[in-house]
Amino acid sequence: MVSTLVLLLSLRSLSHSLPDGLRAELTHVDAGSNYTKLELLQRMVYRSKTRARFLASTNTDFSEDFIIPSFPSSNDNKTYHNEYLIKLSIGTPPQPFVLTLDTGSDLIWTQCQPLVHNFSQPYPFFNPKKSSTFFYTPCSFPLCNDIDVPDPKCSSQNLCMYNASYGDGSYTSGFLARETFTLGSTPLTKVFFGCGNDNVGIYRSNECGIAGFGRGTLSLISQLGYGQFAYCFTSFGESKSSPILFGSTADLRRYEKGLIQSTPIFVNPIQPLFYYLYLKGITVGAMLLPIPPLTFAVKSDGSGGVIIDSGSAITSFPEAVFDIVTSAFISQVKLPVVKGDLVDLLCFSLPSASSQKFQPPKFIFHFEGADLELPPENYMHQEKEMACLAMSGDSGPRTVIGNFQQQNFHVLYDLVGEQLSFVPAHCDQL
Ligand SMILES: *[C@@H]1O[C@H](CO)[C@@H](O)[C@H](O)[C@H]1NC(C)=O
Ligand SMILES: *[C@@H]1O[C@H](CO)[C@@H](O)[C@H](O)[C@H]1NC(C)=O
Ligand SMILES: *[C@@H]1O[C@H](CO)[C@@H](O)[C@H](O)[C@H]1NC(C)=O
Ligand SMILES: *[C@@H]1O[C@H](CO)[C@@H](O)[C@H](O)[C@H]1NC(C)=O
Repeated sequence: MVSTLVLLLSLRSLSHSLPDGLRAELTHVDAGSNYTKLELLQRMVYRSKTRARFLASTNTDFSEDFIIPSFPSSNDNKTYHNEYLIKLSIGTPPQPFVLTLDTGSDLIWTQCQPLVHNFSQPYPFFNPKKSSTFFYTPCSFPLCNDIDVPDPKCSSQNLCMYNASYGDGSYTSGFLARETFTLGSTPLTKVFFGCGNDNVGIYRSNECGIAGFGRGTLSLISQLGYGQFAYCFTSFGESKSSPILFGSTADLRRYEKGLIQSTPIFVNPIQPLFYYLYLKGITVGAMLLPIPPLTFAVKSDGSGGVIIDSGSAITSFPEAVFDIVTSAFISQVKLPVVKGDLVDLLCFSLPSASSQKFQPPKFIFHFEGADLELPPENYMHQEKEMACLAMSGDSGPRTVIGNFQQQNFHVLYDLVGEQLSFVPAHCDQL
């Protein structure tokens, strides 16, 4: 904890030019598509599963069982980290981009000319020659050693090179560069990022790279040096953008009148980029589920634990926990379970005569010091005569709290106080 704090403080080099607070907008990856809500949900389930396996494979050897399940649309293979995209500009004059917001990784990178390999993206590739503020990082800069991949290399001109490879064969490689970024209308000078000349793999054509928001020194949030950031995800399927707030504008008390709750965030030294939470139990309906106390703990080999992740769509549990959760719903809902072509969703058939909204049993995450009671729309999706639980199993030993469960909560990451705080909110009005 202490070392993280020191890093955050020492990185406040940017702060002389920074306002107290900052706001930017996020768009959801499926915004503007014409999928039905149920199809969107299926896509989210699918993405959460691949994401959980992807997260499990980072910083470790690529595991053999990391197999991409087939899905009825070819585009859907390219869905590893991609949930919310942050709009920003790079360079002087500013060139616009949308990068995937990823609390599970560190490096910020985009595709950079000249290109060896590229994937298609919605904006022209970044061109260093068209920017007056572009700067290649010499290998002597300390941040060159912080690249969370083995062996940053030096070019013959002693410039810092990186190669971030993901377990599935995709990678981005190029030079670590320094540039002026623009968020909202605020220029941020001297942001270090990967200028990727060689980019291969599973990226969707609506993103231009990744903005790491993990806990390491190279992430955007660490480099900006703001001690806190917050986001507020608008309702699922809504086209309105979601705000992400930095510094003083992130303060929950500025907007909310409801009960603000907080729970500690902690570091797992073996997976130091992730935001870990202490989850003590789960209530479904009237029942505190019989989950053994150590189920959610980080194991001595660094596996397991509970993380909150912007890049995961829906919450995924270890299989054994998911079985307990689904059994609790099945025993309390008392409606026929639908076995259909829906991938791995627990769905109930609603009585066709009833036009009333189905009231599912309540769902509460009991975190250390904070109970997160979800509104029904954050876990039970009702469509036509069916209601489906928007959670999944099969995440390996780790539990990942996904963004579907965080809709219309204002969620604050206090990196100095090491706390996560949340309060219900109307995110479209923030
Ligand atoms: C929406 O659906 C129509 C008809 O199925 C299809 O032709 C079109 O490409 C879709 N648009 C998007 C953005 O997916
Ligand atoms: C997506 O994955 C499936 C199963 O692995 C594969 O058959 C299909 O060709 C892939 N589609 C694309 C566009 O890569
Ligand atoms: C990007 O890749 C495509 C397909 O491989 C290629 O045709 C195109 O020339 C590349 N663009 C640049 C700017 O290198
Ligand atoms: C980067 O790593 C990938 C995967 O390990 C490799 O295929 C690629 O050749 C590397 N690129 C460079 C420039 O070293």
